Amino acid sequence: MSEISVQMTNKPGTMPDEEKLGFGTYFTDHMFVMDYQTGKGWHSPRIVPYEEFSLFPSAMVLHYGQAIFEGMKAFKTCDNRLVVFRTRDYLQRFNRSADILCIPNIDVDTVQAGLFKLLEIDKRWLPGKLGTSIYIRPFIVATDPYVGVKCSDTYKLFIILSPSGTYYAQGFNPVGIRVEDKYVRAVPGGIGEAKTPGNYAASLRAQVEAKKEGYAQVLWLDGVERKYVEEVGTMNIFFKINDELITPALNGSILGGITRRTVLELAREWGMKVSERQISIDEIFAAHANGTLQEAFGSGTAAVISPVGELSWKGQKLVINNNQTGPTSQKLFDAVTGMQYGTMTDNRGWVNTVTKL
Ligand code: COI
Repeated sequence: MSEISVQMTNKPGTMPDEEKLGFGTYFTDHMFVMDYQTGKGWHSPRIVPYEEFSLFPSAMVLHYGQAIFEGMKAFKTCDNRLVVFRTRDYLQRFNRSADILCIPNIDVDTVQAGLFKLLEIDKRWLPGKLGTSIYIRPFIVATDPYVGVKCSDTYKLFIILSPSGTYYAQGFNPVGIRVEDKYVRAVPGGIGEAKTPGNYAASLRAQVEAKKEGYAQVLWLDGVERKYVEEVGTMNIFFKINDELITPALNGSILGGITRRTVLELAREWGMKVSERQISIDEIFAAHANGTLQEAFGSGTAAVISPVGELSWKGQKLVINNNQTGPTSQKLFDAVTGMQYGTMTDNRGWVNTVTKL
């Protein structure tokens, strides 16, 4: 593993008020950077001040979107440690996205070492209040100065850190979601499974329209039949129907969420009936009509566990569990955040201690 060099900033920033962090607005003093060149591989891992960087206007990422990203979090535990949740799982998913976008794989050990060193250096930025964290954003962009369409021969990897509060302004309160019936996000055989900017760019139009109607996010249906539920803009989706926890099966157009995996693993351990399968929007409305739809919630790194209180589809409105947080959403939220903030024991190796504070 190559040595990670460090260049410290001479302009350290001021930590914002913990109560007013919002999400993804503030950034710490430093970032981790690495370069790739065909024939040389990934090289020059380094920590440098967080600042603007330059690219040629012809850099391929700016034209064809060859880029991927990840999102994970660091937490302050009640016994004063800085921990990261499921680091390797996120970095392995980074490589899965890299495969889909024809970007060369990273060495997970090197990037994890770079991340942990960066967190150690910028640990003073870690907020402590429940619901706050350092949101970690690794990303890779294609940098060849070339406007033909091909895979780039050069890339840059960055990790930036953003001290953040909850993703939704509502915090852990039920959100309203509009089921999208006009636009589609991804289709089988496409790149829907990858964490790549294009998938999020594809979601913006629908999100703007949903917001105008007062909904926090959209629920995507499959791109072919517009019938089967896929995922919400920034989270995977779960329904509890007749005591069965159901989430759409991963089919190539749905993001394989790490929090989704955590929910499935916990629920199975608790002995719940859990299914990963196709679920149609008609089935959800029918379950609501016959009284068996008990809960709905989203799962995501940024969103954690987010109860869904209302779904709107083609003018029909469906209120779930009286727009209240249900017991399964609450139990999952408590278990996930309990491990992350250290109030519950993690016996699965999900919580990685980076440093004492
Ligand atoms: C995450 O949950 O980490 C995400 O990547 C969603 C993001 C687009 C805010």
